[in-house]
Amino acid sequence: MNYNVYKTKKEASEAAYKLIKENLKENSTLGLATGSTPTDLYKAMIEDYKTSNISYENITTFNLDEYVGISYDHPESYHKFMDTNLFNHINIKRENINIPDASAKNLQKAIENYQKKLDNNTINIQILGVGSNGHIGFNEPGTPFDSGVHIIDLEDETIEANSRFFGGDINQVPKQAMTMGIKDIMRSELIILLAFGENKKDAIKKLMTNSEITTEIPCTILKNHQNVHIFVDEYADYQN
Ligand code: GLP
Repeated sequence: MNYNVYKTKKEASEAAYKLIKENLKENSTLGLATGSTPTDLYKAMIEDYKTSNISYENITTFNLDEYVGISYDHPESYHKFMDTNLFNHINIKRENINIPDASAKNLQKAIENYQKKLDNNTINIQILGVGSNGHIGFNEPGTPFDSGVHIIDLEDETIEANSRFFGGDINQVPKQAMTMGIKDIMRSELIILLAFGENKKDAIKKLMTNSEITTEIPCTILKNHQNVHIFVDEYADYQN
């Protein structure tokens, strides 16, 4: 694994974007993440889009996850997040955007549809954040490594961590999410993992130093991937 430490989230995000740009082709497929982690990366993408001749016209995207039980219009839906933080600012085609439909009436059907689309595509570049408990996407500890798209009950630690987006009220945080599985993430050709802040340090330490690969710390599976680049700020640096 290629490990990179920068002083700030902004610097690390700009370096991660540089790597994305080097690998981006006209018709690439991108795997995208939400949460606080990728916001500066998306800013860097937008900034460069405005000032260079890069085009997203033939780019396809797949998002990692979406909360179950909140509609698109909810300010914290991941679909809304993506529109606000990236899609509304670049020339991506709406039909090329894929996000788990976690507000579908028939969730099983929505799972099958998303899985089918993922199986018919190869994600060239997957952007990942990591939960403080080591989750990737919303694959919480204990999720089998061979999992595909599924609905997961969020851990108390995750609900607590994400309550900051819901006015600090854990009762407002959805209790379930639809997520790409670990198997889907591992199929990506290039994985770029970002982690910022002290509360990610432990997960990064387990990823970088534990010899054990265990479903109890989902991100440790990334040791088995041949092309992982990690970008952290000095607070998440496990050597610090
Ligand atoms: C969230 C997301 C993950 C994300 C992780 C870290 O809840 N579902 O995809 O990478 O947990 O979140 P944050 O970036 O807000 O710290």
